[in-house]
Amino acid sequence: MELKFRLAHTGAAETQADAVVLFGWEGTRRAEIEKAFAAVYDSGEFSGKAMETTLLHAVPGFAAPRVLLAGLGKREKFDALLLRKAAGAAIRLLKDKGVRSVAYVLEAGADGPGDVAAVAEAAALGLWEPDVLKTDKPAGAAVVGEVTIATANQDAALAAALEQSRIVAEGATLARDISVQPPNVLTPLNMAERARRMAEETGLECEVLDRDRMMQLGMGALLGVAQGSAEPPALIVMQYKPEKPVSGDHIALIGKGVTFDTGGISIKPSDGMEKMKYDMAAGAAVIGAMQAIARLKPGVAVTGIVPAVENMPGSRAQRPSDIVKSLSGRTIEVLNTDAEGRLILADAITWAKQLGCTHMVDAATLTGAVVVALGFACSGVFANNDQILERWLAASQESGERMWHMPLYDEYRDQLKTVYADIGNVGGRWGGACTAAMFLKEFVGDTPWVHVDIAGTGWLDDAKPGMAKGPTGIPVGSFVHFVMNWK
Ligand code: BES
Ligand code: ZN
Ligand code: ZN
Repeated sequence: MELKFRLAHTGAAETQADAVVLFGWEGTRRAEIEKAFAAVYDSGEFSGKAMETTLLHAVPGFAAPRVLLAGLGKREKFDALLLRKAAGAAIRLLKDKGVRSVAYVLEAGADGPGDVAAVAEAAALGLWEPDVLKTDKPAGAAVVGEVTIATANQDAALAAALEQSRIVAEGATLARDISVQPPNVLTPLNMAERARRMAEETGLECEVLDRDRMMQLGMGALLGVAQGSAEPPALIVMQYKPEKPVSGDHIALIGKGVTFDTGGISIKPSDGMEKMKYDMAAGAAVIGAMQAIARLKPGVAVTGIVPAVENMPGSRAQRPSDIVKSLSGRTIEVLNTDAEGRLILADAITWAKQLGCTHMVDAATLTGAVVVALGFACSGVFANNDQILERWLAASQESGERMWHMPLYDEYRDQLKTVYADIGNVGGRWGGACTAAMFLKEFVGDTPWVHVDIAGTGWLDDAKPGMAKGPTGIPVGSFVHFVMNWK
């Protein structure tokens, strides 16, 4: 069912919905809350601590049958991410109680376009569940179909922000719907089919390069990864062209699309290997972002590129020590077949350059090393240009997707040296996220570029209060904001 969003200009007591959500602070009490809920505060049951919730029924004077108090913590410690977390947690709690419509009542002063966007996106993301292929779901279970944002703010910018949020959230939902598919269903060709369908629905151009075409072009790095699998590879290219371009800029969004990563001949341990179905999460994020971009119609040209392959140890599989010739003409010694993401991305990056892209962002579940470095709290970001980095970090902040800037020192290049080819595909034990990024940089050249390693953030092993377990949709929000803010 489609989720409907609406704006209302009513106060907490008048707002109509199955449940209203009121955010409360720790230490200070919001006026509307003070009146009706003094007793709740005084009892100590709710003190406004971050992520604290209390659900009340039949509050006198309230039109809605339920009121959920949701804590945001101390005012001075507040950040926009917290609002997203609390909004997501609130709707997940309410959805499990059979609520069909939810209204968030924003406080005056904390109800600008950014606040509306944060709450709306968090609500939509919070409602998503990874159960598309379950057939034993209880029939007739309640689904939240309507989210209202109530505010006294009459600014017309709020409606626009809400509409953009809805579209961003639908993009992230598409990315998650694709990512959650198992690898026997989501083969490279199936992924291409989904991209094509999206492009048809939104009016984007979509071209899928098949194995023969890639051979003609000389994409030896990508094809080397694909050759161990019976599933043919696909290079998915989705193009958005603005009616009135504001400049000659052309942004490439590139996402790793390994539909399953066994590691190839450098095979991974079987324990936990099932998680490697999410090795296409960044590719799915590009498809989701392109859907949103097609609908939002920014003034800059954007091309989405997803190299889609399966990394398998079949009898035709590449071997450690194989040397492949990339589309760029450079030779690569494949020292570890499990470092396949950078191989397919190298050719995708070169293809983006050949298509005339002037700026590039790639995202990938690229390394275990970035998870060692940063854990699950944020994605690692690498860039060869300060201006594009700044724009990317601003976009990530707007979308509530945490990112941390990592270094690309020349020393990392030394780790990739090999005597037999121009470059090796692994850089040894240390600084693995950085050497992987350095490998990509070799193929990027001077084009302003950002690389985002989402190995730690693309998938939740356990549900959070505001989000189900499974794919997160990261970095769809950053992709879209990055493009929408382009000047
Ligand atoms: N898809 C993996 C990276 C990954 C690992 C993502 C763990 C999420 C969790 C990637 O293709 C890979 O296998 N990388 C290797 C690189 C190594 C061989 C240099 C890794 O990180 O171990
Ligand atoms: Zn791998
Ligand atoms: Zn991989």
